[in-house]
Amino acid sequence: DWVKEIFGLTELEQELAAKLQIDQVIVVPGDSDQSEWVKKEIGRHGAQLLKKMVIPNQVVAVAGGTTVMAVAEMMTPAPSLKSTLFVPTRGGLGEAVELEANYIASVLAKNSGGTYRLMHVPDQLSDEAYRTIIREPHIQAMLETLRQARIVIHGVGDAKRMAKRRKSTPHLLQHLDQTGAVGEAFGFYFNRQGDIVSRFRTVGLQHDDLKQVEYKIAVAGGASKAEAIIAVCANAERQILITDEAAAEQILK
Ligand code: G3H
Repeated sequence: DWVKEIFGLTELEQELAAKLQIDQVIVVPGDSDQSEWVKKEIGRHGAQLLKKMVIPNQVVAVAGGTTVMAVAEMMTPAPSLKSTLFVPTRGGLGEAVELEANYIASVLAKNSGGTYRLMHVPDQLSDEAYRTIIREPHIQAMLETLRQARIVIHGVGDAKRMAKRRKSTPHLLQHLDQTGAVGEAFGFYFNRQGDIVSRFRTVGLQHDDLKQVEYKIAVAGGASKAEAIIAVCANAERQILITDEAAAEQILK
């Protein structure tokens, strides 16, 4: 559109897609680190894209964080999304409830007119509790639904910032340091090369499940997330990225 042409963002989008080697990139003006409004713009584009990509009776898996929450907040009623089922990618990661996937899936459903299902499990469990819970029929059914997800919407976090936000142990922080973790998404930690170097054992979407997904939509902006975005998104298959100008420019440096 003409606004983008004026700001030269179309060119930036193409450059960034080429650099990251991914299918599609959307860049909004500004820097999310500086302004909440920019994060909302990322959210607005995420909501728009979802509406454009919809097919009937699809499952959309939703991860946590403030940027995915922005997508949910910017969503508006869409008759085409009525038959969409929104599910969280996991139980809780020990964050504020407004940042949890469960809550965000419910807001997306409410604002779009779709439906949702929740995952009523804490995410950090003892081995014994994990083995028991995972055998529960309703949890099995939920995980089966999650494996049918056509689209996954997720944020991207700076590894250390995320570990601290989740009140992780000093042991994990040290492990992240040693393994060179820079990015985080879905509760997995990635090094600069995009390898997963650490993960929580959680009740929810597993890394192998991502192979079945048709599209992964990453929503993440701010210059401070440049390295993390490279770690999580570069060379990823069927990956779409919605980011901002500040992150894009930092990534291209
Ligand atoms: O997994 C990544 C984080 O949840 C991103 O969180 O969007 O609040 O920065 P954020």
